[in-house]
Amino acid sequence: MLWKEWLVMSSVYTDKVLDYFRNPRNMGKMENPNGVGKVGNAVCGDVMFIYVKIEGNVITDCTFETFGCVAAIATSSALTEMAKGRTLDDALTISNKDVADKLDGLPPLKMHCSLLAEEGLKSAVEDYHKNNSQTK
Ligand code: FES
Repeated sequence: MLWKEWLVMSSVYTDKVLDYFRNPRNMGKMENPNGVGKVGNAVCGDVMFIYVKIEGNVITDCTFETFGCVAAIATSSALTEMAKGRTLDDALTISNKDVADKLDGLPPLKMHCSLLAEEGLKSAVEDYHKNNSQTK
């Protein structure tokens, strides 16, 4: 990345956003997930996958793959940390604002990117319920 680009990014994003972008936690496709959420933004074309492992109503593991902007990558990474160890009901209360708050905020124009993270987790849990009801 050119230093000029980095200068612009660091004037727009918080240190935490830049840290989660440069050192993403829980990034990568999961082996044998219980649920997969795929969400996208038709306007920018960004796509996010959220993978969950659920044991006894608790999210024991959560990873992501995001093909998108700095904010989308940082928020999906932060979301995976927030979701791990929570019950399904509790995890579904995580809002895009909660994710943005964990990153010390996002520029208003980038708040919609954090919505992908919220929706991605909801979609993964929905997929888990769908898979579960088919095996009963
Ligand atoms: Fe597309 Fe951020 S610009 S999710």
